Amino acid sequence: MNHTIGNRRIIGAVILSLAMCFTSCSRREKVLTFAVGGAPNELDFWEQLCENFQKETGIEVNLIRQPTDTDQRRQGLMVGLRAKKSDPDIFLMDVAWIGQFAASGWLEDLNSLPQSESIEVEKFFPTVVNLAGIYEGKLIALPIYVDGGLLYYRTDLLEKYGFRRPPETWKELIDMSTKVQARERATNPDFWGFVWQGAQYEGLVCNFLEFAVSNNGGLLLEDGKISVNTLENVQALQFMRDLICNYRISPPNTFTEMKEEEVRIFFQQGNALFERNWPYAWGNHQSESSPVKGKVGISPLPSFPGGRKASTLGGWHLGISIFSDSKKEAAQFLKYVTSYGIQKQLALNLGWNPGRVDIYEDPEVLSQLPHLKDLRVVFENAYARPNVPYYTQISEVLQRYINAVLAGKMEPVEALVKSEEEISEVVRNYAR
Ligand code: GLC
Repeated sequence: MNHTIGNRRIIGAVILSLAMCFTSCSRREKVLTFAVGGAPNELDFWEQLCENFQKETGIEVNLIRQPTDTDQRRQGLMVGLRAKKSDPDIFLMDVAWIGQFAASGWLEDLNSLPQSESIEVEKFFPTVVNLAGIYEGKLIALPIYVDGGLLYYRTDLLEKYGFRRPPETWKELIDMSTKVQARERATNPDFWGFVWQGAQYEGLVCNFLEFAVSNNGGLLLEDGKISVNTLENVQALQFMRDLICNYRISPPNTFTEMKEEEVRIFFQQGNALFERNWPYAWGNHQSESSPVKGKVGISPLPSFPGGRKASTLGGWHLGISIFSDSKKEAAQFLKYVTSYGIQKQLALNLGWNPGRVDIYEDPEVLSQLPHLKDLRVVFENAYARPNVPYYTQISEVLQRYINAVLAGKMEPVEALVKSEEEISEVVRNYAR
């Protein structure tokens, strides 16, 4: 009797372990590693999306959570790619550094994957796909969402102080900020007119370009020559410093701490009249727990007299690692994230501007995000950073010198002269 029970137990255990091995072995084959970063609500969204994907397809996704900062995300991904690791299989890349990844040979040709004919590339912003999605004739990534710098403003405060619309020019922004800041400080000593990204990182270059282009300046890279030391750029840089040191409508920690999330949280807590940020901030500002819910408007960023309203083109693209050992599953995931349904969810749940243009016609999306229709034009005309493999090196130089000006360690002319010299060296080195 005992014997029989013992045998049965042994047989049972063997069957169980075989079954477990079978499940885990078959599962192991299907685990996909996906690296993505962002604000807490964005990571929550991705987590849920991965779960839903797994339910639909049986493919398990291992989510690698990256920081918000684009420079850190790039460095994190490069560790594995340089070592030719198969993980992560699939990841989001900033439009700013996709050129570097493509030129390094790290990205799979999406058209060479199984069922590639079902990738609806023609549904995505053609300008963005042409700028960053195609490398040497190969489709290497699709834009999941498109970013452009925007001005967020407090509708309740503009109304309270008798302003009928958001500012069109930088001068108007200063006048409105000065008045509102002085009055609001009576009850909130931490109140500031205008918050933007001034810390030493990629976001600072995006902000600088917007000020510069709105003064008819910018970053010109032509025939291997760079031009950044121009009068328009010097004026724009001086203006950025003046916002902190002269007009005093932007806080002193602008150049030490302010990145997207710091700026977003500052504004969301009710401590600023204006905020420069990307579209993702909208979803957060309008969330249930947000103190500024229902009190926020969006408009294009202001310009200088004679300049144009400018937005830096940002955005994140999904690409598959050339070293992935789960390319078939990765392709399925890519198809899922770029489908109409998910792209619509990105807009509705996060306030993102999807890479697919057909979402901008969706009645439900437009009723919930009426500003999206106008923003499409902003994105189509947004100012692109040079899509060259060495852009991050150019940016590193600019970040350092622009930040030094904001910190009062250098004058704008000297900073731009030096930037131009160092960037020319970067360009020469690359051409060698
Ligand atoms: C946003 C943009 C990205 C940009 C970054 C700068 O994530 O989408 O293109 O480089 O901000 O911080």
